[in-house]
Amino acid sequence: MRIGTIELPNRLFAAPMAGVTDRPFRRLCRRLGAGYAVSEMVTSRKDLWKSLKTSRRANHDGEAAPIAVQIAGTDAQMMAEAAAYNIDRGAQIIDINMGCPAKKVCSQWAGSALMQDEPLALAIIEAVVAACAPRGVPVTLKMRTGWRAAQRNAVRLACGAESAGVAMIAVHGRTREQGYKGAAEYDTIAAVKAAVRIPVAANGDIDSPAKAAEVLARTGADAIMIGRAAQGRPWIFGEIAHFLATGVERPPPDVRQVKAWLIEHLHDHYGLYGERAGVRSARKHIGWTVRALPGGEAFRARMNMLEDCEAQLRAVGEWFDEMAQTHQRMPSRAACIEDETMLEAA
Ligand SMILES: Cc1cc2nc3c(=O)[nH]c(=O)nc-3n(C[C@H](O)[C@H](O)[C@H](O)COP(=O)(O)O)c2cc1C
Repeated sequence: MRIGTIELPNRLFAAPMAGVTDRPFRRLCRRLGAGYAVSEMVTSRKDLWKSLKTSRRANHDGEAAPIAVQIAGTDAQMMAEAAAYNIDRGAQIIDINMGCPAKKVCSQWAGSALMQDEPLALAIIEAVVAACAPRGVPVTLKMRTGWRAAQRNAVRLACGAESAGVAMIAVHGRTREQGYKGAAEYDTIAAVKAAVRIPVAANGDIDSPAKAAEVLARTGADAIMIGRAAQGRPWIFGEIAHFLATGVERPPPDVRQVKAWLIEHLHDHYGLYGERAGVRSARKHIGWTVRALPGGEAFRARMNMLEDCEAQLRAVGEWFDEMAQTHQRMPSRAACIEDETMLEAA
């Protein structure tokens, strides 16, 4: 699997998720089996580059190659400058966001809104490629299937992007209008794959090794990209890699192993955000990890009251140690759903 001239270790990608796939989480996903992880989007607005949020997003200290940075914006020249700015800060691949449905992004005509204006979308792609190509940096595109059901233009836009020099396209199998509702559809992704020669990554609702294999087979895609299913479960990449290689599902990880991964993640997280902000923003990662376990919700409520790193680390450590007395392994996803149903019925 290659993006331009850059060889990737495998075809399992962590999807960009603002507020989630920061450097510590990307590092963990890579360590646990993802071959590639794209940064949270970085705005093309220069006036925001010096903000704490954007400068943290442009910090790649200690991150494994290839460093891929997603940029978002609506103006071709500004997007080209944003690409150059991020290359200066270590980006080895530039990804253009045409997939995000967030109002904050779309009301400014960025993200998936760009799919509605193909000439502007192509002008942006051409400008970014022109800024990146002389520096040997490949440009990739992340898009949805279209703006709405009656306007599924992913194939046309993908062909235009390929002609403009884009090196890889990731397609989320929903329209912008759908947001995250309904089920992802894979026929449009298959049509994009059939229409272009560059690699295509399929994205949307992939939450298990079996689903990963099914989506790869159904779309013919070169890679799969996983977002929400990796929240609190970054080892999903290793599980999928194992299943694709052997046809056999690996048992869920040991509870003690998950504790060690989470503690490692928390230390890295505090390192980037500092104590005060880090303790708060780490809560969602802890919550996602424990939700699969019995009593996870109650622990989350308690843990959300803690305000310093030491107390948070201690609470997580003790809770997992206690859990390990009764549960050797993390419950499988199916078992979790069953547990929730049983709790609702009780
Ligand atoms: C919290 C969150 C933040 C996201 N942020 C971005 C983003 O910054 N850029 C982007 O292209 N997509 C973003 N997405 C979309 C994901 O990359 C992905 O396309 C989508 O979640 C579907 O994949 P999944 O079903 O595997 O989650 C975000 C999704 C979520 C849930």
